[in-house]
Amino acid sequence: MAQPTHALTQTDWWRSAVIYQVYVRSFADGGGDGTGDLAGVRSRLPYLAELGVDALWFNPWYLSPMKDGGYDVADYRAIAPAFGTLAEAEKLIAEARELGIRTIVDIVPNHVSDQHPWFRAALAAGPGSPERELFHFRPGRGPHGELPPNDWPSQFVGSAEPVWTRLPDGDWYLHLFTPEQPDLNWAHPAVRREHEDILRFWFERGVEGVRIDSAALLAKDPALPDLVEGDPNPFLDRDELHDIYRSWRAVADEYGGIFVGEVWLPDPERFARYLRPDELHTAFNFSFLSCPWDATRLRTSIDDTLAEHAPVGAPATWVLCNHDVTRTVTRYGRTDTGFDFAAKAFGTPTDLALGTRRARAAALLSLALPGAVYLYQGEELGLPEANIPLDRIEDPMHFRSGGTDPGRDGCRVPLPWAAEEPYAGFGGEPWLPQPGDWASYAADRQAVDPGSMLSLYRRAIRTRPVFGDGPLTWLPAPESVLAFTRAEGVLCLVNLGDQPFDLPDHSELLLSSAPLDTEGRLPKDTAVWLRA
Ligand code: NOJ
Repeated sequence: MAQPTHALTQTDWWRSAVIYQVYVRSFADGGGDGTGDLAGVRSRLPYLAELGVDALWFNPWYLSPMKDGGYDVADYRAIAPAFGTLAEAEKLIAEARELGIRTIVDIVPNHVSDQHPWFRAALAAGPGSPERELFHFRPGRGPHGELPPNDWPSQFVGSAEPVWTRLPDGDWYLHLFTPEQPDLNWAHPAVRREHEDILRFWFERGVEGVRIDSAALLAKDPALPDLVEGDPNPFLDRDELHDIYRSWRAVADEYGGIFVGEVWLPDPERFARYLRPDELHTAFNFSFLSCPWDATRLRTSIDDTLAEHAPVGAPATWVLCNHDVTRTVTRYGRTDTGFDFAAKAFGTPTDLALGTRRARAAALLSLALPGAVYLYQGEELGLPEANIPLDRIEDPMHFRSGGTDPGRDGCRVPLPWAAEEPYAGFGGEPWLPQPGDWASYAADRQAVDPGSMLSLYRRAIRTRPVFGDGPLTWLPAPESVLAFTRAEGVLCLVNLGDQPFDLPDHSELLLSSAPLDTEGRLPKDTAVWLRA
């Protein structure tokens, strides 16, 4: 085998990596059918290498009816034909590695597709069968079993749709998301065995990390009781989960693989339990992602994050956006700059220039913090959330909200690569329509513009190692200015206040998210990296 250009021998890479999230369906279309694919990703690996990222996290790329963007998996060992083949995925993993880029796949353990062979077998086998024990099948309540077995709410925030569906044979089955995503029964040993086998399957193929979807939802109280305030939650953050992840960790350790958990939990102590040394390596930082553009709130979020990770020795992650939430330049350009699923609405007024200015500063902030950074595709281009015409929306979250939630398609629009080409160089006519001004965000244009978001991200990712791996120390500054250092002599300052801020003495301005004012001061909504 050819020697990789980059040896990638570092084992603790994940503690400080920049990880780029690839939503394959919308990244680049190599086949010309309007759907992104592995050929598209392979053709853009040089772009990703130039951006300087350490790893790629691929949203689910498996065989799937795509009722929830691939989070409804029919076969965890097969690639969606629209994306490519398993052989191609193996090539992609190897080619990325040659460029010094590692691969993280997305495993969806809470539920499968209703087209998964296990669920089809369960449907065919009928009530009381061992096949149904792999899921949560129950008789209904009420005199004729016409009422769902319990009162659990949908895990699509804002949805009043039931989490139980009744079959013609009278049984109900549980699905915390759509009816096409039946929940697995994690108390069943076959479910555990199968998933450990799936982990091995991907680690054997050169994958170096696994993102765990809905990681805190797998275990259910076997009695499936109603929600009772004050009682432990019957489906969220149950203690049994830790045993599951300890055995996953043993599998990962055999291969040197790492985990990143999708753990949405308000309680920092409960959150940190998933990051104990024999469980998950990392988890997404949703409190930072949800935090408004406000100096006090951000400082608190950063401090809380570092404090909750410290006792378990896990590195923090810094996330501004992903495929489920509002794009950063849009969020920061609104009156409410935080993110909350429940607050999403059509027609929210947005100042994109303001949002973009803040997103640039936020990029320098998050890339200076200690830990790993996740960068969702298109964020490096400063893409805004798109308004999707109503008749083109595909996201089940929209439909399950009764049409009030715009859904998540607005952050999933196919990327613009080349300003002069049809569909901004994405490939064929995109599966989701691109807004009229999409070409103005094209990567080829931004690559030659030193003032673009892409140029800022490229420089920042390259410059980031100057911060070293030291802990964060806050420096004295007004409340509205975030000022900290990590390595001796390198500073990050972010001004969120109305007053321009006098920079401390420095020998070099390493990077700034916007020009300084005429007196050399740091203007509002601007970040700089300085060498003292
Ligand atoms: C979280 C994923 O990020 C989201 O896209 C998906 O709809 C749900 N989990 C269900 O799998």
